[in-house]
Parts: sequence; C-alpha cells; structure tokens
Amino acid sequence: MQTMFPVIAILTLMTACATTHAQPATSFTPGKVWPDDKGVHINAHGGGVLYHEGTYYWFGEHKIAGRTGNSAQVGVGVYSSTDLYNWKNEGIALKVVDEQGHDIQRGCILERPKVIYNKTTGKFVMWFHLELKGQGYASARTGVAVADNVTGPYTFIESMRPHAGVWPVNAGDAAKPSKDIDGTWAADRERSIALGSYLRRDFEGGQMSRDMTLFVDDDGKAYHITSSEENRTLHISLLSDDYLSFTDHYVRIFPGGANEAPAICKHNGKYYMITSGLTGWAPNPARSAVADNILGPWKSTGNPARGVNPANGLGPEKTFGGQSTFLLPVHGKPGAFIAMFDVWTPQNPIDGRYIWLPAEFEDGNIIVRYREQWDLSVFDRVNAGD
Ligand code: DGJ
Repeated sequence: MQTMFPVIAILTLMTACATTHAQPATSFTPGKVWPDDKGVHINAHGGGVLYHEGTYYWFGEHKIAGRTGNSAQVGVGVYSSTDLYNWKNEGIALKVVDEQGHDIQRGCILERPKVIYNKTTGKFVMWFHLELKGQGYASARTGVAVADNVTGPYTFIESMRPHAGVWPVNAGDAAKPSKDIDGTWAADRERSIALGSYLRRDFEGGQMSRDMTLFVDDDGKAYHITSSEENRTLHISLLSDDYLSFTDHYVRIFPGGANEAPAICKHNGKYYMITSGLTGWAPNPARSAVADNILGPWKSTGNPARGVNPANGLGPEKTFGGQSTFLLPVHGKPGAFIAMFDVWTPQNPIDGRYIWLPAEFEDGNIIVRYREQWDLSVFDRVNAGD
C-alpha cells in the first residue's frame, strides 16, 4: 500500500495536468474568449500582426479591467504564433513609463500599435496613436519606438503631429486659404472641413494623427495611414527609408469622409482598405476602398461586411459588433488575408473580443463574410487561384 501511494499520486497529478491544459486550437471562433498559452484571454487590442522568420507576432494594446483600462496602464503587449490559432504571451513589448511629463507616461492613451521590420537596418519599428496624459483625445499625435528584437523591449523615440509646414502633394485648393471656402464654415461646416479648413489650421503645428496603421509595399517603402483633420480625412504618408520618421510626401484621402480604424492590404497589384465611421467605441457600418496606387486615387467600394453574427444579431449595419483593425496576410497562401476586427468593451476593456474572418475578393471588391467557426483551409476555396 505504502509503495502504491507515490504511483497513484503521480497518476492523479498527470490526469489533473492533462485536464487543465486545453487542446491546441485548430480553428478561429470569432467573438469568443481566446485563451493564450496560459489559458488567459489574449490582451492585444487594436493591434497588428507582423510575420517574421516563420512566426507571427501580434502586437496590441494591453488593457486592464475597469474604465481605467481605456488609458495605457501597462503598454503594448506581444504574442507569438506559428499557426495563427494558438498564441504564446511574449510579455510587454513597449512599456509605459512613470516619469512625469513623459510622452508615454502611464495614463496616456496609446492605441493601435503596429510593428514593421526594416530589412536594411535590421530594426523593428513600432508606430502607434498617442494621446498625452490628461488631455483626452486633444493631442492627436503619432509615436514611434524601435527594437533590435521583435518582441522588444522597444525604446520610445518620439511622438509628433506630422508634416508641420508641409502641404500634401494632392492638396490642390485645400492649400489655399480662401474667404470663399472658409466663409462656408458656419453654413456648411462639413463642406468646409472637406475643403481643408482643419488642414490649413494645423499647417504650422503639424497635422492631427489618431487611428493609424502601417503598410510595407513590395518595394520596401513603408506608409503611415492615419485619421487626420479631426478624423474627417485620412492622410497617407511615405515614411523615411529607416521607417523612423516621415518624409514630406503625403496625400489626403476621402476629404471629409470621416473614416477611422484604417486597415490596408495588397492583392494582385491592387490596394484594398477597410475603415469604419466615427462612433467612438460603438460599432458602425464598415467601408471599403480600392486603389491601383497606395497614394491614390482611392475608389470607395461600399460596406464589405456580409452576413450576421448570431451571437449578437449584428450584421453589416454594425460590422458584426466590431471595428476594423488590421488586414493580415497569411504567409505562404497567396490571396489569403485575415480581416481583424475588435469588439470593444469600454466598461471593462480587458474583456474586448476579436473577430477574425477571411477576406474575400469579389468583382474587384474586398468583402468579409461572417463565420461562426472557420480554419485556414477556407483559403483553399476562397480566393484560390487568384
Ligand atoms: C474609435 C477608435 O477607433 C478607437 O481606436 C478609439 O480611439 C475609440 N474611438 C475611442 O473612442
């Protein structure tokens, strides 16, 4: 009996271990709790994914429980995966700091971090939307950080309002203060904004930058795409060769279109964009656009969402309850892109969910069909042979 005890104890322990460790996931279940390698819901909101040397790295806002979690109390989290279903928590890539007055002081708002790799410098470059602590959403800045290793630590470099003293290359009449245009302000505020009143207002101090994403083209040139001019007009800017600063080359896209949450991908030589409208944390109808050139002109192609999320009854009118975040190219599967959306829960942001769905290309448009459960074999059928 005495000799049997350790054997039974070990067997019991083994059984307990086997039942507490979940089986690896083999599919996506949009909107559900998504456990990481430790069984904890993934904490990488408003994020983006970088594929590097055989592994995907998912960077996102690390939220905490309760309304305080809507400001940055920790920093940017990073997870790794080789199959896109199962993610390992790699810790905090960029930490907020406790120094009073620092740009990324704990309590600032740090959103939508994206990381790209610069093949020439060998550095990983992170850009993110930054609002200085205590100023709500008034600062409207973009910030940049750099690292030698993909998971960090990332070193904060600076934050800014880009393009101070520089007109967009397609500014046209928007660069010309005109009594006629500015005179429409009171009568037709939105028209005046579309015609450049905020662009001109911010010319000297630099343009506003809120929701943003990054895109690296086949030629290695990187672009910063952001919601500017009080979220009314998107700006697409060419970054410097080292990706650490802005060049003077930028364009206005959809003036007065009121787009945020931009996500971009390239498929068969065309650029596709998904954005949202402006309703804060609440979902609204997504929009899509297509272009032959990243700097435009862009053509609006309507609402990309199809179907209904049965968990909340929401369809295209509310983007299934989510908001666009990123278009993730699946490595080794040409034409395969995952459209990533966030389901925000501002009353308890740590519980925010993720809706990942396959992007499909139909008649020159990007569309996203709701699926309750799916796996990467979907791409053997949709976009196959594109
Ligand atoms: C919508 C943006 O897309 C989010 O990233 C966040 O900034 C919220 N607005 C804040 O209301």
